[in-house]
Amino acid sequence: MKHCYVLWILLFSPPEFDSLKPIIRAISQNLYYEDVQCKIEILLGDARESIPKIKEPIDIIYQDAFSPAHNPLLWTREHFTSIRAITKDDAILTTYSIAASIRLGLYENGFYIFIHSAKLMRKSTVASLAMLEGIEYIDMELKKIRNPTAKSMRDEEYRETKRY
Ligand SMILES: C[S@@+](CC[C@H](N)C(=O)[O-])C[C@H]1O[C@@H](n2cnc3c(N)ncnc32)[C@H](O)[C@@H]1O
Repeated sequence: MKHCYVLWILLFSPPEFDSLKPIIRAISQNLYYEDVQCKIEILLGDARESIPKIKEPIDIIYQDAFSPAHNPLLWTREHFTSIRAITKDDAILTTYSIAASIRLGLYENGFYIFIHSAKLMRKSTVASLAMLEGIEYIDMELKKIRNPTAKSMRDEEYRETKRY
């Protein structure tokens, strides 16, 4: 099914995608692409098993794993610990979730929490291992006082019921 999708992109995509076609073709054939500007490697399988195997330190994580309600296992404190273990010390994680439980899971792993707001866009979370300027900072200690029942999601609470 994935190959049909790639074929569809290669045959019917608008001309704006033309420069990307060699990249799409390489990734679909080899799960890998590299040029002077970027390197793309697709790791198949459960991210909880593949992430710990990543050897090169990561700068940016785009957390797009379906919603926490639909796919809780990739939003837990343990999952963010595993991400933290492969990141550089000034890494940034961005995500559309602004839930307190998700921010707590990141905060408990040493991330500072910020909110990204822009016109015509939903608010989103930026989590950074270094303090950032020019973006709204969220004081998570204050959040915890104001919302004492909030807690991070935990892997063992979902592992048995939801296995990807
Ligand atoms: C919202 S989609 C992300 C789409 C992607 N960012 C894009 O723009 O094409 C979520 C993806 O996470 C993958 N996924 C969900 N749980 C996973 C897991 N435990 N391990 C690896 N991938 C998982 C799904 O297969 C799906 O492709």
